[in-house]
Amino acid sequence: IDDVRDDITEVLLTEEQIAGKIAELARRIEADYTDDDDVLLVGVLRGAVMVMADLARELRLQLNMDWMAVSSYGSGTQSSGVVRILKDLDTDITGRKVLIVEDIIDSGLTLSWLLANLRSRGAASVEICALLRKPEAVKVEIDVRYVGYDIPNAFVVGYGLDYAERYRNLKSIGVLAPHVYS
Ligand code: PRP
Ligand code: MN
Ligand code: MG
Repeated sequence: IDDVRDDITEVLLTEEQIAGKIAELARRIEADYTDDDDVLLVGVLRGAVMVMADLARELRLQLNMDWMAVSSYGSGTQSSGVVRILKDLDTDITGRKVLIVEDIIDSGLTLSWLLANLRSRGAASVEICALLRKPEAVKVEIDVRYVGYDIPNAFVVGYGLDYAERYRNLKSIGVLAPHVYS
C-alpha cells in the first residue's frame, strides 16, 4: 500500500477524525429514533460500505440493514440524473422508517432520484445520512438530515470512495493526485 502514498496529495480526514464524526452522527440519529421505529439503514453500493459498517456498529439502536446498487445513465462523465437500479432492496419498505447511508453527495443527482424512488414506495419516512458533501458541486438541492463534513470540490478517495475502483480500502480520506487521472 506504500506506493499509494504518491497518489495522495493530502490527507483530508484521518481515521480518527472519521471515527469521531461517525460517532457524532450516531448520537444525533439515536436522538431521533427509538428501538420501536425498526429503522432500516439502506446503504448505497459500493461507496457506502465503510460508512454503513461503522455507523451501524456505532448505533445503539435496533435496526435492519439493506443495500441498493444504482448506476447513473448518461453520456460520458456527466451524470444525467437518470438512475438505473442494478440491485434493488430485498425489503418491503411500506410503512418503514428508512435512513439512506451514503459516503458522499457530489451533484446530489443520485440521492435526489433515490429519495423520490424510496418515498414512492410508501415508506413512513426517508432520511439521508452522508459522511461527506461537496457544496460547490451540488446541482440539486436535497434535504439531508445528517451530514458529516462539507468538503472542498476536490477528487477524494478512501474509506469507500474510489477512483476507477481503487483506493476504497484506505483508512483515511485523501485528495487524489492529478497525475493519477490526467
Ligand atoms: C459515488 C458516490 C455517491 C455518488 C455521488 O458513487 O459513492 O454514491 O457517486 O454522486 P452524485 O451526488 O453526483 O450523484 P459512484 O456512482 O461512483 O458508485 P460507487 O459508490 O460504486 O463508487
Ligand atoms: Mn456511490
Ligand atoms: Mg465511485
